[in-house]
Amino acid sequence: MGVIEVGRILYRPRRLRKMPALRDMVRETILTPSDFIYPLFVRYGNGIKEPISSMPGQFRFSSDTVADEAEETWTLGIRAVILFGIPEKKDSIGSSSWKEDGVVQRAIKAIKEKIPEIVVITDVCLCEYTDHGHCGVVRDGKILNDETLELLCRQALSHAKAGADMVAPSDMMDGRVGAIREALDSEGLYDVGILSYAAKYASSFYGPFRVAAESAPQFGDRTTYQMDPSNAREAIREVKLDIDEGADIVMVKPALPYLDIIFQVKNLFNVPVAAYNVSGEYSMITAADERGFLDGKRAMMEMLTAIKRAGADLIITYFSKEATKILNQ
Ligand code: PBG
Repeated sequence: MGVIEVGRILYRPRRLRKMPALRDMVRETILTPSDFIYPLFVRYGNGIKEPISSMPGQFRFSSDTVADEAEETWTLGIRAVILFGIPEKKDSIGSSSWKEDGVVQRAIKAIKEKIPEIVVITDVCLCEYTDHGHCGVVRDGKILNDETLELLCRQALSHAKAGADMVAPSDMMDGRVGAIREALDSEGLYDVGILSYAAKYASSFYGPFRVAAESAPQFGDRTTYQMDPSNAREAIREVKLDIDEGADIVMVKPALPYLDIIFQVKNLFNVPVAAYNVSGEYSMITAADERGFLDGKRAMMEMLTAIKRAGADLIITYFSKEATKILNQ
């Protein structure tokens, strides 16, 4: 005889798991296509759709082909894209990032012409445009904060004037959200929102992205501006600063290793919370699936559900299209 008599267990959680319909009824977290923001890489040139070696299934597009990709994204039910630019020429201050006919500016116009309804967000940062690969102006091996702000404002303004609905500063310079808000307002661009990379950690999970965007730092690393993975309280301060400076949506990045941060930000603030399911999170699942170590589709859906369950209202993910196809079935 066991200690527990069969039939004497009062509460049996398995009762609510016994059939699919019942599981559907008590499910707490449900993903929908409008949760997703799809990242797109835009490079110079025409007619290009070039595979990214570090991110199987992802491509670099030219400004013309990116509009077709955005249209397909929209047709599936995804509401937003975020654009990253890979310019033809890089220099020490990233000046090609605020050119009127720059890669991102052209892509915004092409996308908006084809699908005016889609939300176009642009990543605002210098690392893709500088020859040293850092996110700010460099002097004597240091990344200068205040000198960088003006350049970020020029870039953000240029994106907004090209038709971007939101700008997303990802540089992690102090005071940039306030500076960009002021710059936008001074030109009457009150309707252009700011999605700030508020708690952005210095993470190894950005590796595949840096191959895709050709934006790896040429010396040192990003630890003097991006956050230390050990810190959680500091993330709350960073988020609060960005909200006080005018951020409309705040982001935690990466997502999967920082679910605790997403959870806290969601519970402490009353603005929409985005999480960036970054390139490394994408590529590790894709690679493990390719090698047969796990079922990539199931791992993808589990990961995205977990990010939403932790508190993310929006998820920037390279899996946007694949996950949406599953949700639409
Ligand atoms: C630019 C930027 C990066 C990412 C988004 N914006 C790279 C970095 O900070 O080095 C990473 C996105 C990803 O890994 O998917 N600063």
